[in-house]
Amino acid sequence: MKRIAVFTSGGDAPGMNACIRAVVRAATYHNLEVFGIMRGYEGMIRGRIQRMESHNVSNTIQKGGTILKSARSEEFRTHEGRKKAYQQLRHFDIDGLVAIGGDGTFTAAKIFYEEFGIPIIGCPGTIDNDIYGTDYTIGYDTAVNTALEAIDKIRDTADSHNRVFFVEVMGRDSGYIAVQSGIGGGAEMIVAPENSNTTEDITNALKKGKLQHKASAIVLVAEGEVMGNATKLASEVKAATEGLDIRVTTLGHIQRGGSPTALDRILASRTGIGAVEGLLDGKACMMAGIRNNHLVYTPFEEAINKKKPINQELLRMVEILSI
Ligand code: F6P
Repeated sequence: MKRIAVFTSGGDAPGMNACIRAVVRAATYHNLEVFGIMRGYEGMIRGRIQRMESHNVSNTIQKGGTILKSARSEEFRTHEGRKKAYQQLRHFDIDGLVAIGGDGTFTAAKIFYEEFGIPIIGCPGTIDNDIYGTDYTIGYDTAVNTALEAIDKIRDTADSHNRVFFVEVMGRDSGYIAVQSGIGGGAEMIVAPENSNTTEDITNALKKGKLQHKASAIVLVAEGEVMGNATKLASEVKAATEGLDIRVTTLGHIQRGGSPTALDRILASRTGIGAVEGLLDGKACMMAGIRNNHLVYTPFEEAINKKKPINQELLRMVEILSI
């Protein structure tokens, strides 16, 4: 292996730059030539591939977003699109790839590897933390801390006005951000796909809190909640309660930006180096992740399809702590 390329794809996540940096530096360290592909699979198809040197990633470890940009490519979903991408890689003599992204990125990477055989290793980059084979994903810790900061601020105003706030956090199909930021932010209730709270449960919990003279309450709602979003749940609860002053805040993409936490920078650096060294070891179609503080490689097949369940003990804690 002489030339590898790195790209970021799907939703951006804080720490992706730290990961790109680690890939570029590890490749340079191991005497590989390294290229950056702009805008993920979209840029691969268009040949937006450029040489990267160690200095190109200076002063990036602390930056949010991704210097390589990201995109969700429709064309790469087609065989024709993937063939164009392969031809571009051949043109640049790229013989190994590092893909930084989430399950959509890895699904595409797996198909691409099966069709064209270019070795590819993934680094888990998504704020959702919904990837099997790694305890945490790059960007998750930062997103949780961003959400937490917002929740603390919401609590101030909620408390001043004796209000109930429904706060919606990201997580397409998973409640990781909701659970972590909910426990950290002292939420009265967490509504996520991984628990089975009903509107009635929320209503009862809020009524109970009111009787106990709680001045404010925060209901943390995961974006992927099957009963509906925060606005819908808040209006249902409002209809079922009297005297509760309810407001809704959706935190949205604020959770995707900002400078990565130390934990994200280190996770990104470890998996970035792991991806390059995995390629050099002859590994392919796998993700480099960290489990129990050890670098491990998980086949894309498992990383995409296996569920990483939320620790139910955390959900039980909310019940105890919000009493
Ligand atoms: O996967 C990361 C994520 O931020 C999810 O939490 C969210 O559902 C989705 O991406 C939003 O995607 P987009 O930025 O394309 O709207």
